[in-house]
Amino acid sequence: GWTTAGVIDEQVERIRAQVGDARVVCGLSGGVDSAVAAALVQRAVGDQLTCVFVDHGLLRAGEAEQVERDYVEATGVDLVVVDAETQFLAALAGVTDPEEKRKAIGREFIRSFEGAAAGLVARAGEEGAEVRFLVQGTLYPDVVESGGAVHGGTSATATIKSHHNVGGLPDDLQFELVEPLRTLFKDEVRAVGAELGLPEAIVARQPFPGPGLGIRIVGEVTRERLEVLRAADAVVREELTEAGMDRSIWQCPVVLLADVRSVGVQGDGRTYGHPVVLRPVSSDDAMTADWSRLPHDLLARISTRITNEVDEVNRVVLDVTSKPPGTIEWE
Ligand code: XMP
Repeated sequence: GWTTAGVIDEQVERIRAQVGDARVVCGLSGGVDSAVAAALVQRAVGDQLTCVFVDHGLLRAGEAEQVERDYVEATGVDLVVVDAETQFLAALAGVTDPEEKRKAIGREFIRSFEGAAAGLVARAGEEGAEVRFLVQGTLYPDVVESGGAVHGGTSATATIKSHHNVGGLPDDLQFELVEPLRTLFKDEVRAVGAELGLPEAIVARQPFPGPGLGIRIVGEVTRERLEVLRAADAVVREELTEAGMDRSIWQCPVVLLADVRSVGVQGDGRTYGHPVVLRPVSSDDAMTADWSRLPHDLLARISTRITNEVDEVNRVVLDVTSKPPGTIEWE
């Protein structure tokens, strides 16, 4: 029968057989899949693996640290961090169309990853070993949804939104793929990650889109707006965790309506700030979803805290649309 330890042993053997003594690179996105795939490869070939983390500046509070500090602490993996916030924000300047945002982010990601990978190839060349392999955290449902070929781009919903998987790879990079999660479902991946000793915060993580907060700001993405959204999102995540709701909802995007203002009153003063939207959803596979009936007192705490703690936000609204007709993310 299926056991976590059995899967790990089998994959470790397969990876060793495939890779030999060549060098391997793996892009980390902060998500579960790439983290577990990298940990498996590391278990198999140790320091032949180098991970690359492109920090695009569109992550939520604490997420970059989770990769740069907690993941490295738990695994001891060799990690190259590319700080690409400036390039990403430049590419997003003036862009308001959701699809254009997604494409700009995808393009920038590939550029950053290619740069880092080329640097690694050069470095490995000096050391004499060849970088021939790229790890992808492709899961079984990804394989099925895209008809067998997964390049981080296509999925059943790709005609609705261009999904960008930050674990995605440039097509013209001459790497052979290592995909140790290809036969697994998400819950199995989480079990493997836990068995490999990854931090709970990474293993139990809810889905987060590759384009990050960039598609949760309706309007242009700027550094200031990202800071506002990051602060509101941190409150929501804290309160959901505090209320023990993390496992009962699929995810809860927080969306900043950056081009909308409304009049409010706080203390003695008039405010003219932006709304944020809470989008808590329940789902099995994200293909369909229902809005989660969060307890009213939890919603009240979230609303009070956000309007008190986050300058610029003076109104909190709740999205009560199922999918379909709404999608989970607003862009
Ligand atoms: P939608 O908005 O299409 O989202 O209903 C369905 C699920 O997919 C996530 N999502 C993404 N994940 N890259 C990803 O890796 C993307 O570009 C992307 N867009 C949406 C979304 O968070 C939800 O879980």
